[in-house]
Amino acid sequence: MEDDKEYRFLLDKIMRNVNIDFREYRPQVLKRRVRHRLHAAGCKNYWDYIALLNNDLREYDRLIETLTIKESYFFRDTEVFKLLEDGIIPEIVSQKQAEGVKKIRAWSCGTAHGQEAFSMGILFREVLGNKIKDFDIKILATDIDKDALEKAPWGSYDGRALRKMSPHLLFKYFTRVRNRYVVSDRVRVLVSFRHHDIVSGIPKRSMDLVLCRNLLIYFQKELQEKVLRNLHAALSPGGFLVLGKTENLTDQMRGCFEVVDLIERLYRKQSSLSVRA
Ligand SMILES: C[S@@+](CC[C@H](N)C(=O)[O-])C[C@H]1O[C@@H](n2cnc3c(N)ncnc32)[C@H](O)[C@@H]1O
Repeated sequence: MEDDKEYRFLLDKIMRNVNIDFREYRPQVLKRRVRHRLHAAGCKNYWDYIALLNNDLREYDRLIETLTIKESYFFRDTEVFKLLEDGIIPEIVSQKQAEGVKKIRAWSCGTAHGQEAFSMGILFREVLGNKIKDFDIKILATDIDKDALEKAPWGSYDGRALRKMSPHLLFKYFTRVRNRYVVSDRVRVLVSFRHHDIVSGIPKRSMDLVLCRNLLIYFQKELQEKVLRNLHAALSPGGFLVLGKTENLTDQMRGCFEVVDLIERLYRKQSSLSVRA
């Protein structure tokens, strides 16, 4: 392709200057997004844009904001959240009870504005009710986009982000403030946000539940493999992994997980195998 050389130069430059590696993302999507940002910034071509980056370091943030697709909403794919509520979370809870352990750790990797992490928080509250005080529950929400992470902790959303919420849960866990809905404090306290690039490694180990949904689709095969290894390393033995509806384990990683529900892309880390991250 004619702009291939410039495109690769730009990705190398991003890597060198802000340490984010987009080089193994799928070029089809990324190139379209780069062009979009380039035109929005009033540049005629890649070289103009590269000159702009040299003069204005804040342009990197705007570029990363454009390159990362943050489409998300609460309870995206209702069936998978139903499975979490009816099967997975109760199973994690009873296992902890049997072991006499209070600590439960979950992770929303590529959380966008936190919709997925807060959805998990609501489910933990729903499943545990008053017993929640007997547990130490922490949900880590990470993303590569700093701008999204700055807004996420406020837990304030428009109606679009709540289009799959049941009216009952909306009423129970949100307060309406003008035309926005704010997540209640009792859910917010369960979630903490942190900047993290899943390509670079893992933020924490011993996760009981990891949601990494609608992120692998943007990666080429080799990068998917690397990220799946990282997710595997973050899980505790027997921990659960949920991918997006159209995402799959790579051939290499298939043996490291047991399939819990293939349609909902729900997997469980094998207890005995260990793979190097
Ligand atoms: C399409 S959204 C998915 C949001 C949510 N998981 C869902 O399924 O609704 C993908 C998110 O992944 C984030 N992302 C992209 N590359 C990432 C990386 N290398 N590490 C962590 N997050 C990343 C994007 O910023 C974006 O917020």
